[in-house]
Amino acid sequence: MQLQDILFSQGFGTRRVCTGLVQQGHVQVGVPEEGGALRDCADPWAEFALQGLRLRVQGVEWEVHAKAYLMLHKPAGTECSQKPSTYPSIYTLLPSPLRLRPSKGAVQGVQAIGRLDQDTTGLLLLTDDGQFIHRMGSPKHHVPKVYEVTTKHPVDESQVGRLLAGVVLDDDPKPVRAAACEVVGAAGESRHLRLTLTEGKYHQVKRMLAAVGNRVEALHRSRIGGLALPADLPPGGWRWLGPQELALLKP
Ligand code: URA
Repeated sequence: MQLQDILFSQGFGTRRVCTGLVQQGHVQVGVPEEGGALRDCADPWAEFALQGLRLRVQGVEWEVHAKAYLMLHKPAGTECSQKPSTYPSIYTLLPSPLRLRPSKGAVQGVQAIGRLDQDTTGLLLLTDDGQFIHRMGSPKHHVPKVYEVTTKHPVDESQVGRLLAGVVLDDDPKPVRAAACEVVGAAGESRHLRLTLTEGKYHQVKRMLAAVGNRVEALHRSRIGGLALPADLPPGGWRWLGPQELALLKP
């Protein structure tokens, strides 16, 4: 693929902007055959394979990915919407190429797979692969999601039992139940609950806890399927997902 097209595919601007970046000497390229060592390339039409390609664009290094799959450690006080109403959007935490990647000819950028509330923290996945978003959201694809819940009142065994048996929420007579639920610490004393859900209804954790007479004070998603939020990814930080991590998301 030509270097200008590669830059365009990665979200560095229009083809004209990308051609200009290369011609003006702002782009360095590292290919796997040369150990990834970066060297100048001022020819926008030079051909490179995408696999394992590294770029440095205006001094900033960039891994080339044909499709973007990433995880974000969502901080509190951010909204998952592209057009937030009150708090900053999570998309402001991403570098601009991720927000400007073209998809089917239009600038779309990556999109969050599902949403977390503004005050919820933790693991959020984003991608520009529409089919992947669709698969992950499908009811047939029951990937368990684990939430660390800080409750207002200590959690007792009867609340755990009711969450596992199923509670009725106000918008649907069909009960929703936790796939797993454990009190972290001593039941009747601890305010830390680890809850696993396989669905993603609006405010589901908060509504389930309210239905058993408790209240969520803080909520953190620690895991999706076999993929855990890494301890060394700070709030606001993001990371590319590789094929091995994507495989952990299969149901
Ligand atoms: N359940 C909630 O109540 N809020 C979230 O952000 C996620 C799950």
